[in-house]
Amino acid sequence: MSKPIHTAQQYWDARSELFANYYKKPSWFDKMFRKAVFFRTAVALKTIKEFDRPTVLDIGSGPGVNSVTWLKNSNAKFLLGIDFAETMNEYARKNAEAEGVGNRCKFVQGDFFTYDFGPEKFTVSVAAGVVDYVKDTVAFMKKMDAVTSGAFVVSWPENGLRMALRRYRYATPVYHYNESDVRRLHEGLNIKSLEILPMQGGVTSIARK
Ligand SMILES: C[S@@+](CC[C@H](N)C(=O)[O-])C[C@H]1O[C@@H](n2cnc3c(N)ncnc32)[C@H](O)[C@@H]1O
Repeated sequence: MSKPIHTAQQYWDARSELFANYYKKPSWFDKMFRKAVFFRTAVALKTIKEFDRPTVLDIGSGPGVNSVTWLKNSNAKFLLGIDFAETMNEYARKNAEAEGVGNRCKFVQGDFFTYDFGPEKFTVSVAAGVVDYVKDTVAFMKKMDAVTSGAFVVSWPENGLRMALRRYRYATPVYHYNESDVRRLHEGLNIKSLEILPMQGGVTSIARK
């Protein structure tokens, strides 16, 4: 029997606890093979700390474990998390309250492509583990550029054995990128510099304005 194909929204709606536990209760497998998850969180935190009292947009915030890490370890004044999977947002709201940062953040349900963020830009925006599920990355990057005033951070999975396994296991389409794709996807954006950092299974980019 062929496996059912879900949208990324349906796929992630059923996996809030599972994904949160990659951070909260990492298994030996997570520590060995999901190093990228911790690396990209650290790169984003370092970028957030380059600014004084920044506002942060966490795109595809998932269970919000990263959001809490960034709030607790920086002087960010506010973080907006957006995710189209509402069970992820429910988890993120409870987690942020339990961790004592509920008053500095908000998690909304929405699709990043269509959500109206209003005229205010965010100092830093982050998409950690998100473009893996995005078909139109050109439009995604243009919107990220448009909603950010300081810097934006994106993690990019590469092709390889891990990607082949994900394609086999996941019931939603996944996409991969090489370094020249990442450079091309930043062309024409309103940025001053692009830093590309290698990590297990791909790269993380920091575009500064
Ligand atoms: C792998 S999880 C990563 C969660 C979190 N960023 C982290 O690193 O812990 C990807 C999340 O992105 C969300 N997502 C993917 N595309 C999205 C979109 N266009 N708009 C909003 N959320 C999206 C999914 O629902 C899922 O919760």
